[in-house]
Amino acid sequence: MPHDTAVIDWIDLCAIEDIPLQGSRRAIIRGREIGLFRTMASEVYAIDNACPHKKGPLTEGIVHDCSVTCPLHNWVFDLKSGEATGPDEGRVQTHAVEIRDGRVFIQIEG
Ligand code: FES
Repeated sequence: MPHDTAVIDWIDLCAIEDIPLQGSRRAIIRGREIGLFRTMASEVYAIDNACPHKKGPLTEGIVHDCSVTCPLHNWVFDLKSGEATGPDEGRVQTHAVEIRDGRVFIQIEG
């Protein structure tokens, strides 16, 4: 049977406890730098770890509610949609996350 290139593998990254509440972790997957963010409600989101403004490292920013504030110029991004909020315009790439038995799996496109 031919390989279906539309199927993207889930990658087992870490235990959910490895990411502090309202904190983040950095991972390099297939040469791409990803930021993992855990909210106070223990939801986990994955986005590219480069702010679309001037490439600020978002994992060094502040996590609040379901958002992260870039450490360089304080743009705020919604972790669910990757969209900049407030007066700023831009979007950071999001990645699908699933929690299975306390492990964080993510799907990277491409
Ligand atoms: S680099 Fe993120 S707000 Fe400027």
